[in-house]
Amino acid sequence: MGQHLTIVDHPLVKHKLTLMRKVDTSTASFRQLLREISLLLAYEVTRDLELTSVTIQTPLQPMEAPILEGKKLALVSILRAGNGLLDGILELIPAARVGFVGMYRDPETLQPVEYYSKLPNLLEERMTIVVDPMLATGNSSVAAIDLVKKKGAKNIIFLCLLAAPEGVARMKEAHPDVPIVTAALDECLNDHGYIVPGLGDAGDRIFGTK
Ligand code: URA
Repeated sequence: MGQHLTIVDHPLVKHKLTLMRKVDTSTASFRQLLREISLLLAYEVTRDLELTSVTIQTPLQPMEAPILEGKKLALVSILRAGNGLLDGILELIPAARVGFVGMYRDPETLQPVEYYSKLPNLLEERMTIVVDPMLATGNSSVAAIDLVKKKGAKNIIFLCLLAAPEGVARMKEAHPDVPIVTAALDECLNDHGYIVPGLGDAGDRIFGTK
């Protein structure tokens, strides 16, 4: 993946995202759309996975056929909204190893504080896809990637649904080696740190909380 930011420019992705943005889209539809869109994003994010070949036997003859090389890849979900992206990706890559990172924002310093993490082993040998639907300020994404790097990950991609220019800039400064894949780049953040026009609070919309 050559460039730092890839916007997945596919009509199905755009259409589904429009439905997700609408204020009157129900929790059930939002969740279903996120699942569908995450399959399309997973397709794009895994485009550069390395292949090797194996000899197999078809009903007609032996052949050298391509197969994914190396250790199973790792998916790391930033709790809790990351789990909404995770489910669809796991449908496409069922053997992936899965890790979780939980962060909250310290009310005084406004910096992310880790409260939970559980990561797969041998991250240094796996492609690691860190997922969070919203790249807003970038603070939690940067902190989660700091953590997976500390655990050895070297080949990392960040996958989100919506990105704000502020978050992209922050990631580029902190982790220039980590490409970002997103369905759309929105205008900016508002005073409350929400992406505009955005889709609201992704976690609340996925889980039906307020
Ligand atoms: N997190 C969200 O869920 N939504 C935003 O707009 C920004 C951060």
